[in-house]
This record gives sequence, structure tokens and C-alpha cells, in this order.
Amino acid sequence: MKIFEEIESEVQSYARSFPRIFNKATGEFLYDEEGNQYIDFLAGAGTLNYGHNNPIFKEKLLDYIHSDGITHGLDLHTKAKGEFLEAFNEKILKPRGLEYVMQFTGPTGTNAVEAALKLARNVTGRENVISFTNGFHGVSLGSLATTGNSHHRGAAGVSLNGSSRMPYDGYLGDEIDTTAYLDKVLSDSSSGIDLPAAVIVETVQGEGGINVAGFEWLKNLDKVCKKHDVLLIIDDIQAGCGRTGTYFSFEEAGIYPDIVTLSKSLGGYGLPFAVVLIRPELDQWKPGEHNGTFRGNNFAFVTAKAAIDHYWSDNAFSEQVKAKGEYVSERLNAIVEKYGEGNFTTRGRGMFQGINCVNGDIAGKITRRAFQLGLIIETSGAEDHVVKFLCPLTIGEDNLKKGIDIVEQSIKEICAKESSIPQEKNYFEAEYKMAS
Ligand SMILES: Cc1ncc(COP(=O)(O)O)c(C=O)c1O
Repeated sequence: MKIFEEIESEVQSYARSFPRIFNKATGEFLYDEEGNQYIDFLAGAGTLNYGHNNPIFKEKLLDYIHSDGITHGLDLHTKAKGEFLEAFNEKILKPRGLEYVMQFTGPTGTNAVEAALKLARNVTGRENVISFTNGFHGVSLGSLATTGNSHHRGAAGVSLNGSSRMPYDGYLGDEIDTTAYLDKVLSDSSSGIDLPAAVIVETVQGEGGINVAGFEWLKNLDKVCKKHDVLLIIDDIQAGCGRTGTYFSFEEAGIYPDIVTLSKSLGGYGLPFAVVLIRPELDQWKPGEHNGTFRGNNFAFVTAKAAIDHYWSDNAFSEQVKAKGEYVSERLNAIVEKYGEGNFTTRGRGMFQGINCVNGDIAGKITRRAFQLGLIIETSGAEDHVVKFLCPLTIGEDNLKKGIDIVEQSIKEICAKESSIPQEKNYFEAEYKMAS
């Protein structure tokens, strides 16, 4: 471990939660140098939906490398890119009645978000972008301006401009539809909120604590955007690629966003890869306006195509993910009922689930104990108070059960040690009581 302490920057994060040297991974397992096996419920923060070193993708990738296929090609047309585009168009877009052109950005999610924001601003000629409380869209300056988390925002070193925050679904309590507030604000020329170029939103907020937007809320958001001629950007970087049970997380809401960002599990194998999907009429880029050396990753084209061919040629995989999601949800509800003393709650959609443990201290104790018992699982949310279940979608049912059993065991032990579990904070009710 000495070399990491000696010369790796203090900026490390996941490495602090799981202080081991990992050297092997297959499917839902990670192994450390001592040969210890861990079930992986972190899955590269949503990058390994198809597991580590998926053998189907590995074979295609190795064949491609052996054949001296293009590794780096800037944004040149390559056979691998053409075949990926073909597969994406035929098996993902067309069956869903979606018509998009695809922009290859630099290979990180935040770069796709930067491109989406730039395009929306350039097309509409407006600067402001509406983003939501607890939203996370990346940490480069443009995307960071739309990210809520104060820890990340605080590192910017410059003022973060160009975005107005609105309350996400449920932020003001279950009874209030916050899209009505957005509509009011956009209808009122004296609201102080400039008419935005776009609204950027996650359908399930991953880093923000597994907050789920209801389908009605998303539909209403879409309506408000259309009413005010504002573009709707769905950031599907974490919730997309099957995580919620459908390829795109917005499918079941029946909306057709203007712009979609994808990354993380798009490449399938964990290779860096990010894209922006753009309604054709909005594709008003001039050549090279948003460029970058690593636009499109040819290895990722190969594995992304393999992922689409193998998992998304029909509905079978989607149905399996939904069934596993129901199992996770049932188990988490049962755990919360048994040990949460009425204070823990569950949240999520599909295989994107969490347990809100009220505070980060308890959630951290649970994930640390789980790690000792052989499970890698992280927290998310403003105070790291939500234990976040993000295992590979391909996980075997036995290992899914085992992983959840470990969480249950950890919660049981931690709750037995804590004298009482604090009540969940409800800021809205507290404020309301003060006012009345
Ligand atoms: C919804 C969402 N958008 C954007 C990003 C940023 O992606 P990256 O870390 O690859 O820059 C993330 C990363 O967690 C994310 O969850």
C-alpha cells in the first residue's frame, strides 16, 4: 500500500472506502492480492452493468485487437464505429420509435454533459439551464454548475454560473408537484429566473441518494418544457443502459427527450465512452466545435456493439432485470421493516435501489461492516446517508441473495449496537411548522 500513500493524490475516494489492492475481477466478483473474493455491489458506479470482464465482450475485443483493428482514430470513420452505430440504430433507437443523431464526445460522462449544455445554449441562444436539487451531472465547470452537491461545487474555485436550481420530485414532500412551481416561475417574467435553454434531469438521481422521479412528474416536466419552448435533456449516464429495467430510463414515462447523455455502461466492458443523442433538427454543431482527442473509443465500439447484440436484441434481458429489481425491492423492504425501527426507508427503481439510513454515520458503518463480510457497496446522497445497491445486472440470483444477506447481517449488527436510530429529517415539515 506504501506507493499509494507516497505518490497518489489525496483526491482518492473509493480507494479510501475499500483499502485493498485489487488485481482480478470476473462477473460480479472482485479479488484482492491476497485472493479474497468480494461481491461487487458498486459495479464501477454503474459502469459494469454487464459485470467485470464479460466473457462475450472479451472475446470480441481480443479478436479485434488480434486483427490489428483501429485502436485510436480521432473521429475518423472506422468499421467498428459504423457497426456500433448500425447496431444502436437498429436495436435500440428504431424499436423504441426514437430518432436521434449521435455525437461522440470525450470519453467521460461530464464531457457529454458539457456538450449537451453547450448545444442547448447555442441552439436556443439562451444561457440559463434549469437543474434540480441533489442532481449530479459531473465535476467539470459547466456540468458542475448543474450539480447540487456542495462538496463538489466547493472545489470549483470560480463561481458556477448559468444554472438555476429547482426542487426535484418529492423534494417538498410527496403531495407537491414541483413541475407546477417550475411552470409558474417560467410563466412569470418577474420570477427572477431567466427563460432557460434547457432543463437537465436524471430520472433517478444516483449520486444524489437514489431519488426517483415519478413517471407523472417526468411527463409533466416534459409538458412544461414544451409549453415554454425549453429543451429537455435527460442525463441517462447512470440510470440508462438497462439499470432501471429498460434500456433508457425514461421509456416507461413515455417521453421523447430532445437530448440524452449516455456513458458509464454504454461501452459494456468498462471502457471509457460517452455520447450525446440529439434530435436531428437540433444538431446544429459546426465541424469540430466541440472536439477532443479521444472522441469515440474504438475498443468500446466493439464491446458496446456486443452488449447491444447480446443483451438488447429482444426483451428477455430487460425482463430479467425487472424481475431481479422486484426481488431487491422486496428484500430491502423486508429488511427495513425488520431492523429500521420505522425510520429507514427504501427507494429506487429496477436494479437502482437504496436504503435511506437517515444519516451518513449509520450508512457508513453498514457499508464498512459489509466490506468486512465480503461485499463492496457504497453510499450516496447529500450526507452519504443512502446505502446504494448498484450490482451488475447480470449478477447470478445466488450472489444477489448473498450480497443482500450480507447487508442484512450488517444492518442487524449495527442496529443492535446503536441505542436508537434518529428520525429522518423532513426539512419541509420543519419549515412549514415554523411558518404557521
Ligand atoms: C448522472 C450522471 N451524470 C454525469 C456523471 C459524470 O460522469 P463522469 O464521472 O464519467 O464524468 C455521472 C457520474 O457519476 C452521473 O451519475
